[in-house]
Amino acid sequence: MSHDQFQANTHIDAMLHEIRVIEPSDAFRAKARISRADYERMYRQSLDQPDEFWGGVAGELHWNKKWDRVLDWQEPHAQWFVGGQTNVAYNALDRNIGRGLGDKRAFIWEGEDGEVRSYTYSELLREVCKAANALTALGVQQGDRVTLYMPLIPEAAIAMLACARIGAVHSVIFGGFSVSALADRIGNAQSRVVITADAGYRRGKPVDLKANVDQAAKAVSCLEKVVVVRRAATEVAWDEGRDVWWHDLVDGASDQHEAPALDSEHPLFVLYTSGSTGKPKGVLHTTGGYMVATYLTTQTVFDLRDDDIYWCTADVGWITGHSYSVYGPLLNGAAVMLYEGAPNQPDWGRFWDIIQKHRVTVLYTAPTAIRSFMQHGDEIPGRYDLSSLRLLGSVGEPINPEAWMWYYRVIGGERCPVVDTWWQTETGSIMLTTLPGAFPSKPGSAGLPMFGVEPALMTREGEELGADDGGLLVIKRPWPSMLRTVYGDDERYRKTYWGEIPHVYFAGDGARRDADGYYTIVGRVDDVLNVSGHRLGTMEIESALVSHPSVSEAAVVGRPDAVKGESVVAFILLQDGHSADAQALRAHVTREIGALARPDAIYVAEAMPKTRSGKIMRRFLRQIAAGQAIEGDTSTLEDPGVLTRIAATAAI
Ligand code: PRX
Repeated sequence: MSHDQFQANTHIDAMLHEIRVIEPSDAFRAKARISRADYERMYRQSLDQPDEFWGGVAGELHWNKKWDRVLDWQEPHAQWFVGGQTNVAYNALDRNIGRGLGDKRAFIWEGEDGEVRSYTYSELLREVCKAANALTALGVQQGDRVTLYMPLIPEAAIAMLACARIGAVHSVIFGGFSVSALADRIGNAQSRVVITADAGYRRGKPVDLKANVDQAAKAVSCLEKVVVVRRAATEVAWDEGRDVWWHDLVDGASDQHEAPALDSEHPLFVLYTSGSTGKPKGVLHTTGGYMVATYLTTQTVFDLRDDDIYWCTADVGWITGHSYSVYGPLLNGAAVMLYEGAPNQPDWGRFWDIIQKHRVTVLYTAPTAIRSFMQHGDEIPGRYDLSSLRLLGSVGEPINPEAWMWYYRVIGGERCPVVDTWWQTETGSIMLTTLPGAFPSKPGSAGLPMFGVEPALMTREGEELGADDGGLLVIKRPWPSMLRTVYGDDERYRKTYWGEIPHVYFAGDGARRDADGYYTIVGRVDDVLNVSGHRLGTMEIESALVSHPSVSEAAVVGRPDAVKGESVVAFILLQDGHSADAQALRAHVTREIGALARPDAIYVAEAMPKTRSGKIMRRFLRQIAAGQAIEGDTSTLEDPGVLTRIAATAAI
C-alpha cells in the first residue's frame, strides 16, 4: 500500500450521510427465513460458540467422515472441519437428488444469441460425471491444477464441478483477459490441462479463446492438453497431439462416477486477483469451509425458497460467479439462471427480457450494470413484466444511493428488498449485508456482519476505533471460507493479509460504521482500482505501460466514473526520441492485461511529482485526473511546479 494513501485514509471522514432507511415490506418479512431475532441469536452463537454454530450448519451437508475439530487456528493459517472428509460436487448434486430434487432444474442457460438450454439436477450430475471420467482419463489427478478459459456456457460450470468432484483444483481465468495474462496464470498454477472453447460470444462477435490459448501455450512449458468446447463453430488451429474436442472426450464417457471423499482442507480452486504490488495473486480456497459458508450465505442472504429462479449475473471468471452462480446456489438445490452475454445485446432490455421470460425471482448484479441501465432510462425496463422478482442484490463495489434507489424503485417496484453485499475474492463468501427480512436497508451502506464475521475499524497502527467512526476495515478472527494462502507464495499471504495490521485480516478497504452498527464501504485504500466491479492493480497497468518501447515511466490512478465506478488514468514519461501514440498504448495495455485495464485518459508528463526520496505522490495525480484543484502539502515534492505543468496538459 502506498504510504501517502495510507496516511490520507487512516481516518476516513464520514463523507456520505445517507439517512434514508428502507424497511422490508410486511409481506416479505412475514415469510423471511431469518427474522431479526433469529439473526441476533445466530450471530451471537456464531461468535460465542463457533463450534456449535458451524458444526450445526456443516451437519446439514453430507460428510463421508465427520470432522474432529471445527477450527484449528495457527495465525495466519486456519483449518476448518479438521479431519472431516467430503465432496463439494457430491453435496451440490447427488445429495440434492437424494432429497428428491432430481427432476428440478439446476441450470437454465441462455446464450447471447437467444439459445436456451436447461439441465435438471439429474442431468447435470450425469454431465459432471462424464466430464469427471473424461478428465481422469486424460490423466488429471487429485491436486492437479486445471485452467479454465471459457465463455459463460454450461460446460464452464460442468468443468468446475467435474474438477471439484475428482479433487482437481480449478483456476478459472476470465475470458476477457489477454494472452499474456492467461500465460502468466497458467504458468503460475503449473496447469497441465486447459479447458477452453473455440470462441465465446460478446456483443454478437465471436471472441477467439482457443487462439489465445494457442498463443499462451508458446510461453509456458507445463501445458500438455487443451480441451476445446465447440461453441461458435469458428475455424481453429489444431495441434493433434495436444488438442482434444470436449465432445470427443466427454460425450462417450461413462455417466457413472463415485465422488471420492476429500479432506476438508483439500484445495478446491485458485482464483487470481489483483493486489497493490507485483503480479496477480492466486487466492486459494479449500473444500469444507468454503462449501459450508457459501451454502449458508446463499440460503440466508438470498432468502432462498424451493420455487425461486435465482440469477447472479456474474461471469464464472470472478469469485461472485464461483460462489453465487455455481457453488452456493447448487448446494442449496436452487434453480439457477445463467446468461452468456452482455447486458446490452441486442439492447439494454436484455436482462429484463430474461427476467420476464424465465420468471426470475432473485436478481444479484453489480452497481456498474445498474448505473448503465439507469443511464438508459426507466422506459426500457418499463416495457417488461418484472413482477416475478422478489429480491435484489448488489455486489462488487460501493453502490451510490441514487443507483440503489433506482434499482429498488424501477426494477424492484418498491416491493423487493435490496441486499448490498460486501465481500472479496479472498473472503470467499458474503461478509457484510442486511438480511432481507430481518433488517432495513440504508441505501449505500452494506450493513451488518454475517454469521461468524467479526469486523472492526482500525487505524494503521491497529488501534480500534469506536462506533460511528471511519477507518480501515478489518476482520478479527478466521471464518470458514477465508483464503488459505496465496498459491505458491505463503509469505505474500502472510504479509498482505495478516501483516499490514498485526493479528487481524486486512484486505484494503476503508469503511465507516454508524450508530446502528451498519458498515458503509468507502472504497479501496490501497493501489487497487475497481473498474466496473473488477479489481485491477495500478502496478500491473504501470508495468504494462512501461513494457511499451515509448514509455520510460508510468503512474496509474483511478478517476471517479459515473458508470464504471472508477476509470483508469495513466501519467507517462516518454523515452527519448519517442512520441506518444495513445491508440498504440491502449492497444498495448489490452494486449498485456485485457481491455478492462485500458486507460481512458493518458497524460504525457515531462516529470513525475516525486518526493525527494523518489516516491511518486499519486494523491496529487488523482486530483489532476479528476480535474480537481491541487490540495494538500506539496512541499515534500522535489519540484512542486511539476504538478501545475501536468495539470495544464491535455490528456491524449
Ligand atoms: O473494494 C471492495 C469492493 O470490491 C473489492 C473486492 O473485489 P473482488 O475481490 O474482485 O470481489 C468482488 C466481488 C465480491 C472489495 O475489496 N466491493 C465488493 N463488494 C462491495 C465492494 N465495495 C462496496 N460495497 C460492496 N458491496
